[in-house]
Amino acid sequence: MKILVTGGAGFIGSHLCDRLLERGDEVVALDNLSTGRMENIEGQKKNRRFKFVFGSVLDKETVRRWVRWADQTYHMAAAVGVKFIIDHPLDSITVNVAGTEHVLEAANFGKKKTMIASTSEIYGKSNKIPFSEEDDRTLGSTSIHRWSYSTAKALDEFLAFAYHREKRLPVVVTRLFNTCGPRQTGDYGMVLPRFVKSALLDHPITIYGDGKQTRCFTYVDDAVDAMMKLMSSPRAVGQAFNVGHSERVSINQLARKIVVATRSRSEISHIAYDKAYEKGFEDMRHRVPDVTKIHKTIGWMPKISLDETIRRVIQYHEQ
Ligand SMILES: NC(=O)c1ccc[n+]([C@@H]2O[C@H](COP(=O)([O-])OP(=O)(O)OC[C@H]3O[C@@H](n4cnc5c(N)ncnc54)[C@H](O)[C@@H]3O)[C@@H](O)[C@H]2O)c1
Repeated sequence: MKILVTGGAGFIGSHLCDRLLERGDEVVALDNLSTGRMENIEGQKKNRRFKFVFGSVLDKETVRRWVRWADQTYHMAAAVGVKFIIDHPLDSITVNVAGTEHVLEAANFGKKKTMIASTSEIYGKSNKIPFSEEDDRTLGSTSIHRWSYSTAKALDEFLAFAYHREKRLPVVVTRLFNTCGPRQTGDYGMVLPRFVKSALLDHPITIYGDGKQTRCFTYVDDAVDAMMKLMSSPRAVGQAFNVGHSERVSINQLARKIVVATRSRSEISHIAYDKAYEKGFEDMRHRVPDVTKIHKTIGWMPKISLDETIRRVIQYHEQ
């Protein structure tokens, strides 16, 4: 097949390109390199079935051209990372809403199957454990920028479902929970690579908040596997799916695991959210996926444990 991956030079997008090429597809990665990097796609560029297109999903013509060329599109391009969203509030909303609109609009011409990468952030700050797909969303005030990402991604989902219902466009929405692995940078607020980098340098590891908040980390290969299987399943069309590991860890435990695994001399300290991000910042205490739906639909379960994910991320940063 011919596949377009928007955000294909990013962390998850580049792994997706690897797997699609392995399957024998022709792949175009469209990326403006805002958070993505050419080094993520160095390997893919050697493959004659791969093409990198430098451009933005905000450019309607470019999006149209490549969505029409493709049989399927994985829309991964987005402004991501809590820190990035807070530092670039306007760009984040524009890219995350208009970019998705352009992709869906272009896909609708030929009714091209499209996957929209959404996020566990859309559940907001509800204390429910675990989150299942039909759960309510609980968000804070619009004066707190972090909720703009959640809202923009939720609007992406609404758009996708509206195209499906009204125009019969085949769409699949994946709600990714913290996804980790090689090529992810810690520069935009991603916790695991940030801690690993500090630990390897014996620098202090700084936890935002009290560290008792819990998260589930999914290895990128497992997430890519879920996305590709969902795109191949007619039963998944028109629906949203949680994609994540159920193994829960507090951020304090995560920091300790990383210190032990790297044999680091790093001290672990805490700073208030206000200092780490912005005044009035709100976080969710727990973020755990219920993966019953995806398991029933395509038989997917993550294979890589948290300890193995940490080991592989350390190995990557040691190189
Ligand atoms: N990594 C996670 O834990 C996680 C969790 C939930 C959802 N997601 C979603 O998965 C997708 C990929 O995220 P990632 O973690 O790989 O981050 P990433 O930053 O590595 O990837 C995003 C890519 O999109 C590109 N991009 C940004 N704006 C663009 C634009 N205007 N035009 C073209 N390309 C643009 C960036 O350069 C980057 O390569 C995003 O949609 C994100 O919301 C990721």
